[in-house]
Amino acid sequence: MPRNQPWWRNAIIYQIYVRSFRDSNGDGTGDLAGICEKLDYLQWLGVDGLWLSPTMPSPNADWGYDVSDYYGVHPDYGALADMDRLVVEAAQRDIGIMLDLVPNHTSSAHPWFVDARSGRGSAHRDYYVWAGPKAAGGPPNNWICATGAPAWTLDAESDQYYLHNFLPAQPDLNWWDERVHEEFHEILRFWFDRGVAGFRIDVAHGLYKDSLLQDDPPAGPGDHPAIQRGKLRPVYSSHRPEVHDVYRRWRQIADTYEQGPALLGETWEFDYQRFGDYYGREEPELHMGFNFGFVEAGLTAPELADVVEKTLAALPAGAMPVWTGSNHDVGRFPTRWCGNDPRAVKAALAVLSTLPGTVVLYYGDELGMADVDVPPALRLDDMSAGKPYGRDACRTPMLWSAGTNAGFTTPSARPWLPLGGTATNVEDERADPGSVLNLWRALAALRQAGRIGRLDKLEQVLLDEQVWAYRVGEVTTVANLSDQAVTRPLTGHEHLSVLVSTAALAPSGAAVGAELSLGPWETVVLAAQP
Ligand code: GLC
Ligand code: CA
Repeated sequence: MPRNQPWWRNAIIYQIYVRSFRDSNGDGTGDLAGICEKLDYLQWLGVDGLWLSPTMPSPNADWGYDVSDYYGVHPDYGALADMDRLVVEAAQRDIGIMLDLVPNHTSSAHPWFVDARSGRGSAHRDYYVWAGPKAAGGPPNNWICATGAPAWTLDAESDQYYLHNFLPAQPDLNWWDERVHEEFHEILRFWFDRGVAGFRIDVAHGLYKDSLLQDDPPAGPGDHPAIQRGKLRPVYSSHRPEVHDVYRRWRQIADTYEQGPALLGETWEFDYQRFGDYYGREEPELHMGFNFGFVEAGLTAPELADVVEKTLAALPAGAMPVWTGSNHDVGRFPTRWCGNDPRAVKAALAVLSTLPGTVVLYYGDELGMADVDVPPALRLDDMSAGKPYGRDACRTPMLWSAGTNAGFTTPSARPWLPLGGTATNVEDERADPGSVLNLWRALAALRQAGRIGRLDKLEQVLLDEQVWAYRVGEVTTVANLSDQAVTRPLTGHEHLSVLVSTAALAPSGAAVGAELSLGPWETVVLAAQP
């Protein structure tokens, strides 16, 4: 009997950047057969599902987020038969496979866009967003794309601009055209029929654009920098209310499949009510959404407590929150949050896994793997060129062992991106009882036993500048999110004992007493003895 029903509730989902996980054929690029080789490891980690970064054919202008065929597998990663095998072999271990779906835009090499570009009267012209120059000349409005340049590129032949909220090689689809909906319904069914367990939906907040193409207004002090475009608030170029209709329809399709596929949106939304809206209010929409308020918060007691409280208050009843700290865009939390201090990494993992909901780890989080300072000449991400944070830093190969190329590929191969220092690696951490990896394993075991992570009311026990303690169900977590030792009264919790501690100071099984002393970053998970 599978542990969670449906599989994605209270789950552990693990994001794999396919190009960097495991290379099975020595060409320096990770692939699907490589993931199959590591399924036993993933099962040992306790994961319920994998989210694979884009696997579909793509010219790689944005490393797979520019799709040229929604029905295939990128030849670098294998063939459709390899995906089918991965789905089956993962299912044998109760692991679901989620694919990354990119519905906001296609590649400019997609046959739809090639046709659309061939002339104003072409069959697929309206699959994309076209508009003529302003009367005075220049782009139709003030919208800015992700690089900071105008979001419009002129097609000189037809004297119209096409919209691209990301790179010019990623033309935005026009969701006002019903045919685009039909195309994506077919794409969903194609993959659900093959047994995939869901989709992570790229730019989930962005699909619809204002039908009048009105200028985006200037951003104000309340607009989180992470969603501003230039200095604009992107309320016409994205974040349109019509997008909810897309997810109501997709949800109906997903819910007809026996494997219970999950729709997990990349929902960049810092207003918690509007974030909650993506789960659906009157009718169900996405099963889950990424909570960027949490991702972008600092690893401090006051900030996390505030975000968690607001999130839980804004979600519809029964909705499954998602807790995550890293991804292929924002970077790795061990670096971003923890300055690569393993004590802080352990505290963060303990918090992530004891909050009520589903947790998403990025490959390497379980090791405390750090961002890598990729030398400029080796950087491959055009989108982050010239930005303060280069995304290549968090996309480097997985560190499996201390040997040459860290067991990611053969020792003689040239990995597509350089590796980080191999002092952190799976093999050595497995052998070290005090490692980040073994702490993760202890937490995963508690989740699998149903003791932590279940959806339940969160009750705040204690909050100050350094310490955050909360109770979910039978379990109390006390997190010292500071590099100082602390002692706090824990009145009313004397009967509890330590299930897991991230340090050795509060030994497992020990009773708490009226006062709890924690070392720097020490986080403990407490419960009554069974
Ligand atoms: C999402 C992806 C990011 C990509 C962008 C455009 O934010 O996570 O990697 O560049 O969409 O598809
Ligand atoms: Ca390969």
